[in-house]
Amino acid sequence: MSPVSPHPPKKIVIVGSSGRLGGLLIKSFGGNHSVTGLSRAQLDLGCSESIVAALEPLDYDLLIIAGALTGVDYCETNEAEAFAINATGPGKIAEISAGKNAHVTYFSTDMVYDGSKPEPYSEADAPNPISVYGASKLNGEDLVLQASPGNLVLRVSWLYGPGRPAFPEWIINKACAEAHVTLPGNKIGCSTSTVDLLGLLPPLLFGPDVASGVFNLCNSGPCTWRDWGQFCIDTARAAGLPVLADHIEGVPVDSVPAFVAKRPVNSAMSTGKYTAFTGVTPRNWQEANREFLQQSELFKKHTVSPSAV
Ligand SMILES: NC(=O)c1ccc[n+]([C@@H]2O[C@H](COP(=O)([O-])OP(=O)(O)OC[C@H]3O[C@@H](n4cnc5c(N)ncnc54)[C@H](OP(=O)(O)O)[C@@H]3O)[C@@H](O)[C@H]2O)c1
Repeated sequence: MSPVSPHPPKKIVIVGSSGRLGGLLIKSFGGNHSVTGLSRAQLDLGCSESIVAALEPLDYDLLIIAGALTGVDYCETNEAEAFAINATGPGKIAEISAGKNAHVTYFSTDMVYDGSKPEPYSEADAPNPISVYGASKLNGEDLVLQASPGNLVLRVSWLYGPGRPAFPEWIINKACAEAHVTLPGNKIGCSTSTVDLLGLLPPLLFGPDVASGVFNLCNSGPCTWRDWGQFCIDTARAAGLPVLADHIEGVPVDSVPAFVAKRPVNSAMSTGKYTAFTGVTPRNWQEANREFLQQSELFKKHTVSPSAV
């Protein structure tokens, strides 16, 4: 007898299938479900004709929008493009999907919050983006939910994971090349493993009640950007990587010359609504980071095999 799948198979479309999250979604859901991935070449979020041509022939139950224009500073000076890709395109997708009675999940961001609240943000707090990227994503949320109130918006933050290097790899490489490293010490957020995120999705998408509305979703526990970087380089040093910078100096987020767009000082999020809906609490950020780094290509390159010692 074949094993019974915990979730009945669904027909799922992933838009933005070659991104960090999109790529992992394809791998993760591909085993149990019928998954169609659409890369930018197959569906251009910035082009209505491309969206119609890609989706009209497809039959699906769930569609996940993981593609986006994610360069926060690029968006700041390319507003029309940011709104076309992050808002108008997802709105069109949600409209077509509503016509097919299909559920849409739209990945959004902690950058819809303005950062003025001292505590972690809950979904009940009013969004008030202070960047073009944040505003375009908020507009995307609104359009997706307007097309069908049964659709789902997941606000995620500070993603890292296999497939595409992100902050952990960047800061470790930097700390191995330079003795003096700085990072914003007053900017607070929630770092999030894409592998953990994938594990948190099934109760939202495949449970008896498919989730709708807005949910924050991230690993548990806020930290500053500096503390996240310090944790990464401490873990790297402990694993034997040649880290030159012992201590990362904290600087104000507004003082980073490379930042064109404003960043909310606090964009940490609480996941109480997710836990109330699913009964699951995301694990803490340190555990998730440590596990990712220990399995990462960066660490494998530097690991001394026991036989070589
Ligand atoms: N990364 C983070 O820290 C973070 C934080 C908060 C929220 N989010 C949200 O989480 C989601 C996933 O992020 P991620 O880290 O996986 O992003 P990512 O690695 O930058 O992937 C984004 C994907 O979108 C695709 N894309 C860009 N323009 C497109 C267009 N016009 N049409 C179709 N696809 C297009 C990219 O295509 P190419 O592969 O061709 O470049 C890429 O595959 C996004 O909605 C993002 O806004 C991310």
